[in-house]
Amino acid sequence: MTREDQKKAAAEAALEYIEWDMVIGVGTGSTADYFIDSLVKVKNKLDGAVASSVSTAERLKQRNIPVLELNDTGDLPLYVDGADEATRHLHLIKGGGGALTREKVVAAASEKFVCVADESKLVDVLGAFPVPIEVIPMARSSIGRQLVKLGGQPELRASFATDNGNLIIDVHNLKIMNPIEMEENLDHIAGVVTNGLFARRPADILLLGTDSGVEKITA
Ligand code: A5P
Repeated sequence: MTREDQKKAAAEAALEYIEWDMVIGVGTGSTADYFIDSLVKVKNKLDGAVASSVSTAERLKQRNIPVLELNDTGDLPLYVDGADEATRHLHLIKGGGGALTREKVVAAASEKFVCVADESKLVDVLGAFPVPIEVIPMARSSIGRQLVKLGGQPELRASFATDNGNLIIDVHNLKIMNPIEMEENLDHIAGVVTNGLFARRPADILLLGTDSGVEKITA
């Protein structure tokens, strides 16, 4: 099975969490895109979806799934999204696509967070994938210096602006032995909007596409 087939299988498996009259949160990235494509099969069950990015909103609209604003819906029963890395503790790195801030907001507002991924995303320790950090533009250099003090190697994502008009710094080589503590430390740097560690609000369920089927990992 290819990696794309594994992503598709994991995305499809998330359909089982959809109930009648739900408004759900939908994430960003290639696995989330497969989920949106599968959603078409059950879209009559849904009242709508809250998108974690402009591109996801577009894809939902193209498939005639109503896109709603989180400000209007209140909290959501379900959020489905991919990840760049995931552990068996359900801690994640996200933001490879740069949508981490809206993703974190929607995840925080959701009762159940189902993460969908191919098996290459499963790791023992987070951090081989650089941690994306959304920063306000005037703070990028000072944040870079703070990140070096934390032991990381910051790299400004070239020619990229987030949906919120900010920049992304990808931080390489962070030693993430305690993801909750690292998430807090990164958030405390002045000028950081959000970081891509999802540990304080981890996933509730990880659906992992593997060659022998979809593995379900829960807390
Ligand atoms: C988007 O900003 C990310 O958080 C994605 O969820 C993550 O990069 C996973 O993307 P893929 O499903 O494309 O691997």
